Amino acid sequence: MSERTLVLVKPDGVERGLIGEIVSRIEAKGYAIERLELLKARNDQLAAHYAEHEGKPFYPPLIDFMCSGPLVAIIASGEGVIAGFRSLAGATDPTAAAPGTIRGDLARDWGTKVQKNLVHGSDSPESAAREIAIWFPES
Ligand code: CMP
Repeated sequence: MSERTLVLVKPDGVERGLIGEIVSRIEAKGYAIERLELLKARNDQLAAHYAEHEGKPFYPPLIDFMCSGPLVAIIASGEGVIAGFRSLAGATDPTAAAPGTIRGDLARDWGTKVQKNLVHGSDSPESAAREIAIWFPES
């Protein structure tokens, strides 16, 4: 069944000039790009997006990092895209992420407190609906 997911290219991906590479991998897999916007995240968007992580030790540096520069919000669609994009992204920890994945091939997280892992992808249909409403409220 076709579904939608919310992808973020995080500020490390934008700063390193990897927007095209990441979008290419999504398209090459056969998913469609429905919406794509370069924006500076507001605090209220990040607080809503990462609400489940509030109180964790990595939460404050994560919010600082996500505010540190522009990011790209994307709605991607296709059969199984929610799980499929998470496979493309690879494990959260860039060192553990398998070669062939976005994070395994491209993410560098040497010596930082927050995992600068280039991308975020929704983890369930419920998360996708919630996150799409945060970043594309009109859709
Ligand atoms: P993301 O998929 O955007 O969801 C939560 C983010 O928090 C995650 O990617 C990482 O960037 C970050 N994160 C998750 N776990 C940790 C951790 N143990 N230490 C630091 N950052 C983390």
